[in-house]
Amino acid sequence: MNTDQFIPESLQNTISELKVTWQTPSNIALVKYWGKSDPQIPKNASISFTLEHCHTVTSIDFIKAKRRELPKFDMYFEGKKNDDFKPKIATFFKRISQYCPYVFEYDMIIRSKNSFPHSSGIASSASGLSAIAMCLMSLEKALSLDNLNDQFFKQKASFLARLGSGSASRSIEGPLVVWGSHDEIKESSDLFGVPFNEEVAPIFKNYQDTILLVDKGEKQVSSTVGHNLMHDHPYAEQRFSQANENIKKLKQILINGDITSFIGLVESEALTLHAMMLTSDPYFILMKPNTLQIINEIWRYRKEQNSYICFTLDAGANVHVLYPEKEKEKVLQFIENQLSKYCQKNQYICDNTGFGARKIDDIE
Ligand code: DP6
Repeated sequence: MNTDQFIPESLQNTISELKVTWQTPSNIALVKYWGKSDPQIPKNASISFTLEHCHTVTSIDFIKAKRRELPKFDMYFEGKKNDDFKPKIATFFKRISQYCPYVFEYDMIIRSKNSFPHSSGIASSASGLSAIAMCLMSLEKALSLDNLNDQFFKQKASFLARLGSGSASRSIEGPLVVWGSHDEIKESSDLFGVPFNEEVAPIFKNYQDTILLVDKGEKQVSSTVGHNLMHDHPYAEQRFSQANENIKKLKQILINGDITSFIGLVESEALTLHAMMLTSDPYFILMKPNTLQIINEIWRYRKEQNSYICFTLDAGANVHVLYPEKEKEKVLQFIENQLSKYCQKNQYICDNTGFGARKIDDIE
């Protein structure tokens, strides 16, 4: 694996101040990443839909300073100074410092906000860290004496984002991104996400994801703890090969438009992720009673209405309801009438697939 390509060679030092703002999305995995080795290398390839509306907007003010021992930054979240995120960001800067030596030479003011409610149980690390990675790449582009091309820019941003949070590597582009080296995905890599470059069947275009907020509390198992549980897990090896096999199958499904197989594969991936947690040591149950109620209602609706609705889950109790765009009106009615009662404060978020990071003028 060639990481040297990400160590910058020729940087100028004449930029005294720069402010950049990026909006980057969350993503939802269809084949899950669960298990990693150092430094943030996935045990299997994963693939996700990039979302459109669930996103983070982050601006960074870079102010040239004398070289420091450790990167210096302040963090504001939704307008208020916030030190809770600082340790994660500090670890991120440490991991990327070799690839972004300029983080020692600029003081940074980071301002960030999410489009989705904070502590909605929606993981903000994917959108949050990919947004910081894009901001860093904007500084690098400005400092670079070589003309950084668009592909390198995105690839390195994904590479950096991965070092902050694995799933963040899949939040730079869209609508489908694969992260993790896989024989059947051209240019795929353990180091960064790559767009799924096959022609996808029309039924999977503008796919809908309505996120049912079953449990908005703090994550019961942090992803770091969760991934570590795979180290001595009795079923780990089978799981990793199953995931790689599922990527191969899903590639054909996405090309052929075989939505029935899509439903089977995606729901099985979600339940397998939870099965890994049910069978780890220590074990965890991350679903709530309402998660199961919703799953059963989805199955009932699918059968009765001849629908192609299905679900997936993250490492938590919330349910992502996935369905083709042409079912949107009916499914939203079903969600409002039948499923919203299982959500905290009846809350759910309507989203669909999107195209990845966007540079914007300012955070406001
Ligand atoms: C269940 O990317 O949050 O959402 O690399 O430790 O930050 P870290 O983990 P993270 O793990 C996400 C796991 C998942 C499945 C997925 O998104 O593929």
